[in-house]
Amino acid sequence: MCGIIGFSGYIDAEKVVLEGLKELEYRGYDSAGIALQREDSDIPYIVKKTGPVKELEKAVLENRVESFCGIGHTRWATHGGVTDVNAHPHHIGKVVLIHNGIIENYQELINSYELKDKLISETDSEVACHILNYYYEKTKDPFESIKRTVGVIIGSYSFCIMFSDIKDTIFSIRNVSPLVAASCDKGSFIASDVTALIQYSKKYFVLPEKVIAEIKKTGIELRSPDGKKVEPDYLTVDWDVEAAQKAGYPHFMIKEINEQPDALERTVRPRIVSGMTDFSGDNIPDSLFTDCSRIIIIACGTANYAGTVGKSIFEPLLKIPVNVYIASEYRYEDVITDKNTLCIVISQSGETVDTLEAMKLASQKGAKTLAIVNVKASTIAREADYVLYTHAGPEISVASTKAYTVQLAALYLLAAKMGELRGCLTNDEASEFTKAIENISDTVKKVLEYVPAQCKHVSETMIKSKDAFYIGRGLDYAFSLEGALKLKEISYIHAEACAAGELKHGTIALIEKDTPVVAIATQKKIFAKTLSNVKEVKARGAFVILISRGDEEIAEETCDILIKIPSMDDRFAVFAVAVILQLIAYYTADGKGFNVDKPRNLAKSVTVE
Ligand code: G6P
Repeated sequence: MCGIIGFSGYIDAEKVVLEGLKELEYRGYDSAGIALQREDSDIPYIVKKTGPVKELEKAVLENRVESFCGIGHTRWATHGGVTDVNAHPHHIGKVVLIHNGIIENYQELINSYELKDKLISETDSEVACHILNYYYEKTKDPFESIKRTVGVIIGSYSFCIMFSDIKDTIFSIRNVSPLVAASCDKGSFIASDVTALIQYSKKYFVLPEKVIAEIKKTGIELRSPDGKKVEPDYLTVDWDVEAAQKAGYPHFMIKEINEQPDALERTVRPRIVSGMTDFSGDNIPDSLFTDCSRIIIIACGTANYAGTVGKSIFEPLLKIPVNVYIASEYRYEDVITDKNTLCIVISQSGETVDTLEAMKLASQKGAKTLAIVNVKASTIAREADYVLYTHAGPEISVASTKAYTVQLAALYLLAAKMGELRGCLTNDEASEFTKAIENISDTVKKVLEYVPAQCKHVSETMIKSKDAFYIGRGLDYAFSLEGALKLKEISYIHAEACAAGELKHGTIALIEKDTPVVAIATQKKIFAKTLSNVKEVKARGAFVILISRGDEEIAEETCDILIKIPSMDDRFAVFAVAVILQLIAYYTADGKGFNVDKPRNLAKSVTVE
């Protein structure tokens, strides 16, 4: 959500900024803009356009300027519609500014700085630009003016700022919203995430909150608001540029689906020592798992659905209450949370603002926090008491696939360890459970070999439909939630998950001839019950796609398409089912000709509330 790139250096800034914006496209946006300092004038070259970055690029290239310093932005509209004027950068007086985040008190600021008649756009960001220009005119000092501006702002922000009378320099500051920076022999860079920087440097740092960065071609200096020098903490990206490229696949989504066996290996292997689950490499003490009497899992979107599966695994095993909360709900509900609570937050990006704020709240209430995160050194990873990194590598497709299955694997590892430490599993049982986790990667590999053709076949029916329903019981219901989300977010087909037993309390009214129903029946103990529900929808004309176990006898007339998963411990079926549901969604969206990787209105990293 909103992408920022800034560069000051020795090579063509226009190219660096436009390329950076393309790398950041996956975050989700609806307009883009660029500002370049000119070598021969103090007036910046600014172009802003709604639509894709390639439209912006076309407009920028109509009028080439020589520049070695510039900033670029992809905007995901919050305050004000999707228009060229509302796109960033904003330019007031000597200040050119781009912003990611939300300025909560912008209305009060408009009043107190008497900006009502001066505003050109409808954005909160322009308000910050006016205030900064006001202080810059007053103080003529970039640090002082930035300091005073952020001093009056309430909300989240990452700013990239150029002053037209300060050459080759970008200033940045952030609060909550992410920014990372790097330098190399080509110059200095600042961006919303490392995908925009990795082709220049694998060494980078996260800009500390409320520290002012001065980004020059010769390097980056950091100063705290009281003027003290701050040393950055450098990190190294542990994946290659190629990992963030399509590598011959038509879309990132299908590439990422196929990367799951390797991603699972990377997440699981290092945590298995002598056949048992072991988190000593993650510096997580056993006491974290033994000292709690309740677990709460907090996350958004796909990560939340991973948490729902986690609950269904944890609760019967650990015999303690486990509840899953949507982060934005947890924040404003008075959920019982105390020092005996283990709060597990799950986030691919580690930047989802609701998840972050919910985690902070749980921590204030006394809970210990453990974050399952994919992006190294992200805000959630840094703020949690303990971190369990998944090693999915960069996930570019907005629809999450490999990040989901590795989140699940991390939860299963936690279940094994907690089960063992709390005496809910004997040593033999814990070792058997761990062995099953070790085998997940092979299962996924096997499923990826034989299901694509069947999933493509399913997509031919899906493509023709306006609605689709996903049903299941127990764990199967938890899987179906993610299946429905996958389909709706990229194919724009209305998709709904329904606990199979709940069908007759409403949803069955929507089933008519040829309505696709994906029925998931992998759990032995409730197989017959789910099958009765399948019969009920079939009797009303539904087109049933049944996903079930290889060893289950299923009469031909039960369904229209049957997809079998390998026989395995029921608790692990999700990994096979996930791949099938991902592929059904992928082929459906692709078959409808949609931009699979960048669905409309959605963002990869949701950095606003
Ligand atoms: C957005 C993304 C989803 C993701 C969710 C939570 O909605 O499009 O793919 O599941 O945010 O993101 P997180 O980074 O916290 O896992």
